[in-house]
Amino acid sequence: MEQILISEASEILIGRGVPAPFLPVRSTRSSVAVLAQPGARAAADRAVAAIQVGGVLATSRIVPDGEAVKTLTAAGETYEWLADLGIGRNDTIVGIGGGAVTDFAGFIAGTWLRGVEAVYQPTTLLGAVDAAVGGKTGLNLRGKNLVGLFRHPSRVVIEIDELEQLPPHLLQEGFAEAIKAGFIADPGLVDLFDRDGPDADLEQVVIRAVRVKAEVVAGDFRESGRRGILNYGHTIGHAIEVAAGISHGRAVAIGMVAAAAVSEQRCGFRGAAKQRALLDRLGLPVVSPEVDPDDVRRLIGFDKKRDAGGLRMALLEDFGRVTLEYVSDRDLEVGLAAVGLA
Ligand SMILES: NC(=O)c1ccc[n+]([C@@H]2O[C@H](COP(=O)([O-])OP(=O)(O)OC[C@H]3O[C@@H](n4cnc5c(N)ncnc54)[C@H](O)[C@@H]3O)[C@@H](O)[C@H]2O)c1
Repeated sequence: MEQILISEASEILIGRGVPAPFLPVRSTRSSVAVLAQPGARAAADRAVAAIQVGGVLATSRIVPDGEAVKTLTAAGETYEWLADLGIGRNDTIVGIGGGAVTDFAGFIAGTWLRGVEAVYQPTTLLGAVDAAVGGKTGLNLRGKNLVGLFRHPSRVVIEIDELEQLPPHLLQEGFAEAIKAGFIADPGLVDLFDRDGPDADLEQVVIRAVRVKAEVVAGDFRESGRRGILNYGHTIGHAIEVAAGISHGRAVAIGMVAAAAVSEQRCGFRGAAKQRALLDRLGLPVVSPEVDPDDVRRLIGFDKKRDAGGLRMALLEDFGRVTLEYVSDRDLEVGLAAVGLA
């Protein structure tokens, strides 16, 4: 079993059949409230059984699926449930499922009684390599994640056996963020995908991708600088996600193709063709679906990563070497053209 420390108070455990993983984080606690997605019902049942073996009372609640949970309404209902259960200061809130539920559970844990312990078990690959790592929690309002906290869970438990059961489309979602971690900081991770494509050893993929994110986050928790490198592929990708209504992982893959073209132009990056072939081999799209390029341009203008100095993008100098650069509209056009949005 691999342990990655985010801080002294926050650890990530990655392995197969991690034994009774939820115990003991805090010895004094007496009750655990488990919030689980419908797709993670079986994992939640196993967690409840494991927690109860330790003599701690555990109760689970299936919450709305996907983004439907990241609402003030679902939060209000969950607070009422926690009150009924009598969840107190020394108790723990566990989130089991994809990134939507770990974002939600982290927010609930951070606000209930001004903050109780949070533990996550991500059951999607995207959740494991991205959402559950880094301490961002959130609910959606009129925009995504407009309400939230920066707060690490005390433990994240990643069960590789569980992730290996995922259907291909959910694996692909996670591959996009996992290989991104390789592109920006770990050429060895790129090599893993280069050798074995979608059959790459999932345990190694998760360990290496989590290490990259954990290391970046440890140096810049509140995203005031270096954490921006994790946005590689997201500036143009996020705009395409919104304009075309496609999933996040697929949009990031297209965004990385665009960012590689800008990197080639601005930083002399020579791996754009290889990157494109790798993404394609993983079953990810490398050109944009048909959308109005002006919609994408407008959405990039609204991108939250734009600051007073202009738009900053994470660009590659080489696999594993990334830099944050201000880009011009002309640079952006090169990226858009590379994914068919001229
Ligand atoms: N906090 C962060 O830093 C961060 C980073 C990236 C993404 N996110 C958030 O993560 C969310 C996306 O995460 P996601 O892609 O995991 O989506 P998701 O949480 O919506 O889950 C996707 C689907 O997978 C199903 N599912 C979960 N576990 C399963 C399993 N073991 N087998 C089969 N199906 C299963 C779910 O029920 C759901 O229908 C978004 O809300 C996004 O904002 C947060």
